[in-house]
Amino acid sequence: QTMATSSSDRRLRHVESGPGRMQRLNAVVLGESIASEEDELVFPSEGFSEQALVSSHEQYLKMYKRSIEDPAGFWSEIASEFYWKTKWGEEVFTENLDVRKGKITIEWFKGATTNVCYNALDRNIEAGNGGKIAIQWEGNEPGHDAQLTYSELLEKVCQLSNYLKDIGIRKGDAVVIYMPMLMELPIAMLACARIGAVHSVVFAGFSTESLAQRIVDCKPKAVITCNAVCRGTKVIQLKDIVDDALVESAKNGILVGACLTYENSSAMMREETKWQDGRDIWWQDVVPKYSTTCEVEWMDAEDPLFLLYTSGSTGKPKGVLHTIGGYMIYTATTFKYAFDYKPSDIYWCTADCGWITGHSYVTYGPLLNGATVVVFEGAPTYPDYGRCWDIVDKFKYVTRYSRKSLRILGSVGEPINPSAWRWLFNVVGDSRCPISDTWWQTETGGFLITPLPGAWPQKPGSATFPFFGVQPAIVDEKGNELEGECSGYLSIKNSWPGAFRTLYGDHERYETTYFKPFSGYYFSGDGCRRDKDGYYWLTGRVDDVINVSGHRIGTAEVESALVSHPQCAEAAVVGVEHEIGAFAAPDRIHWAPGLPKTRSGKIMRRILRKIASRQLDELGDTSTLADPSVVDQLIALSDF
Ligand code: WT7
Repeated sequence: QTMATSSSDRRLRHVESGPGRMQRLNAVVLGESIASEEDELVFPSEGFSEQALVSSHEQYLKMYKRSIEDPAGFWSEIASEFYWKTKWGEEVFTENLDVRKGKITIEWFKGATTNVCYNALDRNIEAGNGGKIAIQWEGNEPGHDAQLTYSELLEKVCQLSNYLKDIGIRKGDAVVIYMPMLMELPIAMLACARIGAVHSVVFAGFSTESLAQRIVDCKPKAVITCNAVCRGTKVIQLKDIVDDALVESAKNGILVGACLTYENSSAMMREETKWQDGRDIWWQDVVPKYSTTCEVEWMDAEDPLFLLYTSGSTGKPKGVLHTIGGYMIYTATTFKYAFDYKPSDIYWCTADCGWITGHSYVTYGPLLNGATVVVFEGAPTYPDYGRCWDIVDKFKYVTRYSRKSLRILGSVGEPINPSAWRWLFNVVGDSRCPISDTWWQTETGGFLITPLPGAWPQKPGSATFPFFGVQPAIVDEKGNELEGECSGYLSIKNSWPGAFRTLYGDHERYETTYFKPFSGYYFSGDGCRRDKDGYYWLTGRVDDVINVSGHRIGTAEVESALVSHPQCAEAAVVGVEHEIGAFAAPDRIHWAPGLPKTRSGKIMRRILRKIASRQLDELGDTSTLADPSVVDQLIALSDF
């Protein structure tokens, strides 16, 4: 069926100028009569492409081709838009991704010196944007807000930098930051970056044990925290958790000398806060006394910028290490193109800085572009489920929940199933805003597969095409690269500037986990399908893959089918040991009040697998779950 409307003409025009194989599609079927999800193309709305940074697939292909054929030229041109104290030499990057050829190494702009904080703040101020709002903060309570211009942000960062230097923190020292989404969290990250200290942000929802484990691993000179935070109606006493974690760390021989504590008086007064003299210092008592200017520490591009721990499904958390130069260039560039950034935009990423998304797309990427970023302390469900749209409208000063100001939507973290995609697109974005379904990982630093919103039609549920400079490969279990339409293991053939360089203190685990499974490739751990038009579809973690009679089925594929039923809001699918049968039909379906999710919203399917196969004593670490009580409910429900 062809939609005979004026917009269908536009569709066809785009199809004709689209990538090779799409030209064969001569009709676009939308709505009820979708033949296959792969055939559903959603085009940029009227006028969007014309104003976009990349406005056609052709333009993308031209840029992409250059980025692959001449990565050194492509990336050094972009890097030249930033400030470098001294430039890189002849060799823009070096890489070895093949374990057969020796140690895995990735280096970008080595020998050049720069500073990320300088590029994010001083450089934008020098360009005349000092008076522009850098951070628009929204507190837990509606009506509680604050803002900082670029100049004000720099002053705050410098004061903290000076304080940290004064207590003896030097280039290369680690600092753990355990804070909620106060403005002081990005301030602390930037202050570390300014003086060359390596920050390690630990999500403030993590337990004492998780925090202690990270402290023991990276041995920080200081911990930065706040006394308490309100999330919705709950008050969480963070300082108590830090105290316990420091006791725990001391038992493991790691003594942390300083605990800088921000008094978050909207949650708890200082008088009520437990205190250890000599170690604990109130931020407000010391930091404002310091000078509002602070010399920048010029750093090698390959010096570490931060460590961020990602909990593998088993074993101890992995300290993903990112370095300065490449990460800076990569997050700035992916931010700019995936969100088609315009200086007049107000940009909001709802992620917490405790995750990589909050590093790359709350703090570094946007500020490096001189953007105005919304930082939200609270919960999307408080005081009610309309809070997000309330915030969207508030900062554009229009009628409640009109969402008219929205231009682009983003999605990340799990495959977004087509039904959820359509809801986001139709309901939230009024069928007008493109969705950047960005595929990436803590390890990758920035987006690797992502729509460029004006450049090509989207397919609900597909992350679409690779970003500049990224060469994905879908390989089979033997590591052979598959061509054309195929499905297998998603790997990357080359390095990109934002790639992590090692796992802190364990380069061997880095090589074993990511580079040994398929020699010559970075292995992502995700399953992926490439359709006839070259679009990439993420099918879930390969550890979660379901094997039916030798057919490997991604969790996302079955889940998408389930949630297409109008009465199913969400689904998680796992495979259990079973007699081999010819048909893939679920044995059991349980209705559940909730799914076991991490605090970043990822479904922990390994726990479901254990419950489904009744291996209840092997549930593993459930402390990172947002609501561990869900597990007990599920166990009770599935007791058959
Ligand atoms: C894993 C990485 C990436 C920042 C937040 C999570 C899954 C991520 C997508 C997407 C399908 C996605 C993958 C990946 N994932 N984005 N757009 N479509 N799956 O970072 O905690 O390091 O998790 O999240 O499975 O490997 P992370």
